[in-house]
Amino acid sequence: MKHWIAPSVLSADFLHLGEAINQINRSSAELIHIDVMDGVFVPNISYGFPIISQIASVAEKPLDVHLMITQPERYFERFREVGAQWLSVHYEASIHLHRSLNSIRQMGMKAGVVLNPHTPVSLLADIVTEADYVLLMSVNPGFGGQIFITNVIQKIRDLKELILRKNATTLIEIDGGVDFINAPLLVEAGADILVAGNTIFSHADIGAAIDKLHQLTE
Ligand code: DX5
Ligand code: ZN
Repeated sequence: MKHWIAPSVLSADFLHLGEAINQINRSSAELIHIDVMDGVFVPNISYGFPIISQIASVAEKPLDVHLMITQPERYFERFREVGAQWLSVHYEASIHLHRSLNSIRQMGMKAGVVLNPHTPVSLLADIVTEADYVLLMSVNPGFGGQIFITNVIQKIRDLKELILRKNATTLIEIDGGVDFINAPLLVEAGADILVAGNTIFSHADIGAAIDKLHQLTE
């Protein structure tokens, strides 16, 4: 598949969120990445249901909701109701990951599992076939605009190998510190979806930055 770009609205100007979503609607981006943080699993608090529901009311691309919260299973149904179409949970926050991924799928959403930078890909051997996508964190979760952790490139290769070995169709998404320099390397290593916050929203022309992320990785 051609790789996809998912702008992370965490880096958008929240006073003009509607305009940011409209710019993404008009762009070549395939998904809209929404980061939900609870101040417990990660040392930051972002936004919740009312904001996501308003984003969903104007968004013309699927919402890819990344849950950085403890016991995420308590809220799957609520996230579906407010418009999440892709929903991912952290491996580190999920005691019953098999059950979680299956219930997300049963609710009609794409189910994703997220690994923190220190969590090895090998831990996914018995679960990767249950996930529609695996999100590899390339920064410690909690904040936008951080420096990319380079060992994720080898993790992408390891994950790709695992997916092929298991005959799975699981997609690989990368989140954190993605920029114009590392994007081609990530795609070459096997990434399918690149999340980018700061790289897109620090650009004067959001649409042009998204196009550039597509072109650089072709
Ligand atoms: C970090 C979030 C990311 C973040 C990425 O915890 O999961 O989605 O918004 O932002 P950048 O691309 O600026 O690192
Ligand atoms: Zn994220």
